[in-house]
Amino acid sequence: MAAGRERWASRIGLVLAMAGNAVGLGNFLRFPGQVASNGGGAFMIPYFVCFLLMGIPLMWLEWGMGRYGGVRGHGSTPGMFQLMWRHPIAKYVGVLGLFIPTVILFYYSCIASWTLGYAVLSATGHLPQVPEVETQLPPEEVQRRVLQPFDDFLKDYVGQSKSREGSVLLLQPPVLTYVFFWVVVALNFWVLARGVARGIEVLAKIAMPLLFLLAITLVVRVLTLGEPVAAGQSPWAGMNFIWEPKWWIERDGELRFVLLDPKTWLAAAGQIFFTLSLGMGAIQCYASYLREDDDVMLTGLSTTSANEFCEVVLGSSIAIPAAVTFFGVVATQEIAARGTFYLGFTSMPAIFSYMHGGQYLACLWFLLLFFAAFTSTVAMAQPLLAFLQDEFRIPRVNAVAFLTIIWVVFSHLCLFLNHAWQVMDYWSGTFGPPLMALVEVVIMMWIFGGWRMWNEIHKGAELRAPIFFYYAARYVTPVILLLIFAGMIYDQVRALLSGGGETGLEGMPAGSPGVWITRVALLIFLAGLLWLIGWAFSLDHHKERIEGAAS
Ligand code: TRP
Repeated sequence: MAAGRERWASRIGLVLAMAGNAVGLGNFLRFPGQVASNGGGAFMIPYFVCFLLMGIPLMWLEWGMGRYGGVRGHGSTPGMFQLMWRHPIAKYVGVLGLFIPTVILFYYSCIASWTLGYAVLSATGHLPQVPEVETQLPPEEVQRRVLQPFDDFLKDYVGQSKSREGSVLLLQPPVLTYVFFWVVVALNFWVLARGVARGIEVLAKIAMPLLFLLAITLVVRVLTLGEPVAAGQSPWAGMNFIWEPKWWIERDGELRFVLLDPKTWLAAAGQIFFTLSLGMGAIQCYASYLREDDDVMLTGLSTTSANEFCEVVLGSSIAIPAAVTFFGVVATQEIAARGTFYLGFTSMPAIFSYMHGGQYLACLWFLLLFFAAFTSTVAMAQPLLAFLQDEFRIPRVNAVAFLTIIWVVFSHLCLFLNHAWQVMDYWSGTFGPPLMALVEVVIMMWIFGGWRMWNEIHKGAELRAPIFFYYAARYVTPVILLLIFAGMIYDQVRALLSGGGETGLEGMPAGSPGVWITRVALLIFLAGLLWLIGWAFSLDHHKERIEGAAS
């Protein structure tokens, strides 16, 4: 029936592509930032609870759903939801699996282009240099003398010049920033146009081993730094800082017990979704290129483990330990609190400028981020491509061209409109995934049928999951998702009532025009997708298919 669909060419290629999908900026930037600002080692408790009760079951289910849809000719969630839930609304609910990854693509590709730009700028010696510092600086001095030049450089790079900070509407990035954006678009276009096996799979086979090599090189370099600045300030002190459980942390001016603070749990769950690309429609899409009897259990678990290795082991051993070595614990805490970008684009280049051959190490760091991001951007693009190819039956290259036009238009919002990418990140990266996950778990485990789904994921399986996971997926996961969702709504309403603007957008002027323009643009995009879904499923070949299935 779905004879014309593409397939992965090899098992190793599939594993690497799926790992490339999951391993991204989330592992090397978002994770260390989250750990450092949510209680260090204490954060790992909610993190692993969410991983076990939500991450692993969802991963298996999404693989299962993807393979189920793929062998029936659907690589995106509108078609998959329709197959599993025979209700006219199902395909429209599936819009989540197109909207979320594509919107993430809009801004993630911009960030990916910054990493590539920074890789080139550092290799050619164009990043700022810091003056030699022999003694330990007090934290304020670290900020003023060491980090400020890099912070200014980043602001210039993204077009947010220091003189025009705050509520400025338009960004004015230099030509270079813009050129690198187009380079990233072109690279993605090239890979995507070559298709799943010849494009994405080949990219993964090259980029993933390189990524491991780069990451391990950097980990080794960081862990062998010694104590170049002051006694007691070593990478091991940094490991201690990131892993030592801090049960009480200060938040909103109060001392709170981390494990009982809903914010910690929301952060942990959010990290699991983001890093494993769950609740996005992206895993389903890659899994739709499996064969009917390909194993999903063992392969799914292997790619999940590969991601966790890159995150928990490699991700935590670079940025934070290096920052502690050069700046000390207190300053590192402040760096982490300023967010992921500060860690990656400000603190890291500053650190490298202290090291021998630092400009090349900095280049390796940004290349690492770039490869991690590149194998993720192609995964974000694929669901919409699969939708266009499967449901409209248009050729791949045309689908890629269509996607690229929309993508470039929306990315221009991120490039030129202040706050745009943060708004997209909130709705598609934080708010959307738990909603999507809740919907799909209910569809799979309750509407399609719990045991039916359980048997589905075990078809051709080389590993049987303990029965515990059946109950987790049917009862525990939906309840956790419901709680997460309720927590986010509660947070949002409280923030709105107190006039502080939506959460996730802290530090941005409430109701700034950039925020509103982006929201309207996203709504238009959502409406456009819904319209496309309605159109696609009214085409003749869908009527035939549904009638054919019924008879
Ligand atoms: N998992 C990726 C990371 O860790 C990011 C990501 C989020 C993603 N959503 C996705 C990747 C959808 C591919 C598809 O950075």
